[in-house]
Amino acid sequence: MNARKDFDRTGMPSEAPQDEPARQQYFIEKCRQYTKRFFEKKGRVPTAFIQTFGCQMNAHDSERLMGVLLAAGFARGDGEDSDFVLYNTCTVRENANQRVYGRLGHLNSLKKKNPDMLIALCGCMMQEPHVVERLRKSYRHVDIIFGTHNIYKLAELLYRRMEERSMVIDVWENTGEIVEALPGDRKFPFKSGVNIMFGCNNFCSYCIVPYVRGRERSRAPDDIVREIRELVKDGVVEVMLLGQNVNSYGKTLTPPVSFAELLKRVEGIEGLKRIRFMTPHPKDLSDELIEVMSRSDTICRHMHLPLQSGSSRILKKMNRNYTKEQYLALTEKLRRAIPDISLTTDIIVGFPGETEEDFEETLDVVRKARFDSAFTFIYSRRTGTAAAAMDGQVPDDVVKRRFDRLLKEVQEISAGVCGRDVHTVRKVLAEERDSHLDGWLTGRLSNNTIVHFAGGQELIGTIVDVYLEESRGFYYMGSLRENKMEVTDHEKAL
Ligand code: SAH
Ligand code: SF4
Ligand code: F3S
Repeated sequence: MNARKDFDRTGMPSEAPQDEPARQQYFIEKCRQYTKRFFEKKGRVPTAFIQTFGCQMNAHDSERLMGVLLAAGFARGDGEDSDFVLYNTCTVRENANQRVYGRLGHLNSLKKKNPDMLIALCGCMMQEPHVVERLRKSYRHVDIIFGTHNIYKLAELLYRRMEERSMVIDVWENTGEIVEALPGDRKFPFKSGVNIMFGCNNFCSYCIVPYVRGRERSRAPDDIVREIRELVKDGVVEVMLLGQNVNSYGKTLTPPVSFAELLKRVEGIEGLKRIRFMTPHPKDLSDELIEVMSRSDTICRHMHLPLQSGSSRILKKMNRNYTKEQYLALTEKLRRAIPDISLTTDIIVGFPGETEEDFEETLDVVRKARFDSAFTFIYSRRTGTAAAAMDGQVPDDVVKRRFDRLLKEVQEISAGVCGRDVHTVRKVLAEERDSHLDGWLTGRLSNNTIVHFAGGQELIGTIVDVYLEESRGFYYMGSLRENKMEVTDHEKAL
């Protein structure tokens, strides 16, 4: 997005401004002086590499972080042998943490070969005091540690590290601040995530996200619409609106704005072809939202609606605020209003106290709701959450057997459901070159299913008509129907 502030014309202020984003623009400029010196010394531009763990929020944060690094004069590196390596971490399950510790050992050996290398860690894991303590003590080769609330300060922290030459740690417990208008960098030129809110107030009893992402804060609709307009001007045709529970968007704004109202405003943006969102919560998915979706040409025919468990008893212990019956009624209502919608979900197996009967209830919902796909997770005990202190932790071998049964059920259903559009012509957003077949492209249907088809690179970023020749379970093999087609506003983007 927007480039550096033009200090050449205005002159660099002698002290860092207090206001944001001016303060960060000042530090980006300061970091440019460092990258310039690096170039003069070594005859090459320093490279930066970000490894993202976790969800779409983190992926989007990483794009913002890379935007700052590029503005600061780094070039994009393609691996951990880069001069600046940043891990944007996730802590939703314990195995995500273990992966980070494992890779940090490897970074230590790389740093020995390249002493100018800088290593930084940010994201959800850094919001946990015991993690920072362990890093401070046993991972002295880490240069910068920051959390989820101050990612916009990367340039300032990097500059501080260069000045102080010792480990810089800056983790905030919470924030009310939302800093707009810093540079961003997109992985795909034609699609982008857009934060509509931060944090979560739901406190599902197993989940650490509310502790590491803080309280819910919504961005003003005008700021969101302005950002998307800029993105469209810059070639974006698809946006993914991001929040931990998008249905509670706007409740704390004055005046309040519902998520459905926000969607209507975003729909009105000329040139935008597809709108996705992630994640809605079943407990407050409104009729207004279903109505707006059903009438829309641009809102995609896909809803990721996390179930977590099919047992009303377990759902209560999870603090999810809906029952099995309410969830099933919701899926039926969605299918009635939007017959071609694809439903996907998240399910946790082995929550404390889960019995065989509870698990059977989950299988029952899976059979009735017929999800296009489901992410299945083994319950992971997270320190500090309510569930961590609950009785009846389920033995590992029992959980593993249930997990395998669930996976089998999910996959069998999904293979049947996903192929339902075979032998029809559908609109596909061509996204990238096929990694397996030369001269082929990979794209997505409105309902998020992947399609492979023969086509030239010039089609990437455009919506084309593709005949779905064959279903291969989770994806289609197709063929291009016509040359590049512009989708007009009144055409249904199916
Ligand atoms: N805000 C979203 C997703 C949050 S995390 C929502 O409410 O659905 C993504 C998924 O990770 C969750 O849907 C849940 O299925 C899973 N998850 C969260 N905490 C977990 C834990 N402690 N153990 C296992 N899976 C977990
Ligand atoms: Fe976690 Fe629940 Fe919030 Fe999702 S809604 S982030 S599962 S607490
Ligand atoms: Fe992980 Fe943080 Fe997302 S804990 S799932 S990266 S909000």
